[in-house]
Amino acid sequence: METVSILFYVILFLSTLLSYPFLRKQKRGLIPMNRFKLPPGSMGWPYVGETLQLYSQDPNIFFLTKQKRYGEIFKTHILGCPCVMLASPEAARFVLVTHAHLFKPTYPKSKERMIGPYALFFHQGEYHNRLRKLVQSSLAPDTIRKLIPGIEDIAVSALESWAGSGQVINTFYEMKKCSFDVGILSIFGHLDRGYRENLKENYRIVDKGYNSFPTNIPGTAYHKALLARKRLNQILGEIICERKEKRLVEKDLLGHFLNFKDEKGQTLTEDKIADNIIGVLFAAQDTTASVMTWILKFLHDDPKLLEAVKEEQKAIYDSNDGGKRPLTWAQTRSMPLTYRVVLESLRMASIISFTFREAVADVEYKGYLIPRGWKVMPLFRNIHHNPEFFSDPHDFDPSRFEQVAPRPNTFMPFGNGVHACPGNELAKLEAFILIHHLVTKFRWEVVGSQSGIQYGPFPVPRQGLPARFWKDSSRDVCPLVRDLGKNSTSIEATKLFCS
Ligand code: HEM
Repeated sequence: METVSILFYVILFLSTLLSYPFLRKQKRGLIPMNRFKLPPGSMGWPYVGETLQLYSQDPNIFFLTKQKRYGEIFKTHILGCPCVMLASPEAARFVLVTHAHLFKPTYPKSKERMIGPYALFFHQGEYHNRLRKLVQSSLAPDTIRKLIPGIEDIAVSALESWAGSGQVINTFYEMKKCSFDVGILSIFGHLDRGYRENLKENYRIVDKGYNSFPTNIPGTAYHKALLARKRLNQILGEIICERKEKRLVEKDLLGHFLNFKDEKGQTLTEDKIADNIIGVLFAAQDTTASVMTWILKFLHDDPKLLEAVKEEQKAIYDSNDGGKRPLTWAQTRSMPLTYRVVLESLRMASIISFTFREAVADVEYKGYLIPRGWKVMPLFRNIHHNPEFFSDPHDFDPSRFEQVAPRPNTFMPFGNGVHACPGNELAKLEAFILIHHLVTKFRWEVVGSQSGIQYGPFPVPRQGLPARFWKDSSRDVCPLVRDLGKNSTSIEATKLFCS
């Protein structure tokens, strides 16, 4: 472990050293707005900046300490990049909505290469707009309502297998499988099992390499992931070819991509389609899995709330003839308490704690200069956990969403502006469906006493929330009759109590 951390710091040092000429260039190019001052804050040590302070503790403590000391806007220097961090709703709106054209999305090149450089979230302007419309229309309520039976199948078969195994499962890991399958469903509709398994296996390798150190040397996780990413392109190529041969015009995301023609009659290349498919899978998987894991934890930790949610869901279950009929879209739209639980889980967990942009010009904000080339980070979690906007922000309290809507731009679990999440309705639908089947037919207990958050990189309950699931037989059988089977008293006698 020690060797790993020493290696980490050595690599970090070298990478910041290599980025130094870049920083100097930034400084030289700075000055046209020199009547404005830089935001308050510290740029830390030479080369390393404040990277060690950020990574040696919970990053949110780092942000919070800075916010308390400097206010809503402050500068720092992380991983070789000068940054401005923004912790107020107005500042986040400035960057993401009203002045979005001055701030482009920015990701490390190694990540861009892994997902595919044409994925929409790396872009701005015309190309981004075009792709976004396609993705948005395939994830719009009218389209995803048709996915309900498929999502129900995925949720029920996952729950059955967790309960059937009798084993302690890693909830986050299992939720990732569900959200991957839902991603596949929304992209391809029905997909042959062979293709699905092949995509799953190679995507798993890409996922592993994505968060590893980007050394492209044979044997490393990053190198393996790049090879798997190439194989994903081949598989996607075969799927596309088969669709074209069969002349299938589907309404799923792949169908939208294949049918697209711009004003000059140009279609999307296979590379662009592949990068955007992998991009959507990537954006959908860990985020949704993480929030679903948190929902299970929050419900488990609050038995009274769980009972109330069960009651709400049981009424729907009963009206569907004891769960024999599938859920309808209208039913998923009328689960007020469950909806509030999902919103509060999104707030508490703040899965995307912050996002990154880069200033494309020198920008002035409230008398401060944000120099061109600097990274800009709206801190969603700080805003979601600010007592000024959410009273007792560290208490899980779904009722806070009951009467008053949050103040504008204070609740942004799905981001804001031109890059806001187009998958937000699908993510919520998945959560409603999972909760419905979970609480009406199953029970679960969290194993172990570890509390706390782990970042991987999204926040998840520690160790992925180890839990055990079992079928809730009390739904169908009167508890007295059930217990009776165990102590062999007369069934006839107890029927009196249960009728
Ligand atoms: C609870 C689950 C989810 C959360 C918390 C979440 C959150 C976010 C956030 C905060 C952004 C904006 C990032 C930024 O501004 O830099 C975003 C973008 C995006 N999300 Fe989600 N997301 C979730 C689920 C999904 C799902 C299920 C899909 C697709 C099926 C999806 C697809 C995307 C895409 C494609 C973008 C990029 C949009 C663009 O750049 O225009 N997300 N998501």
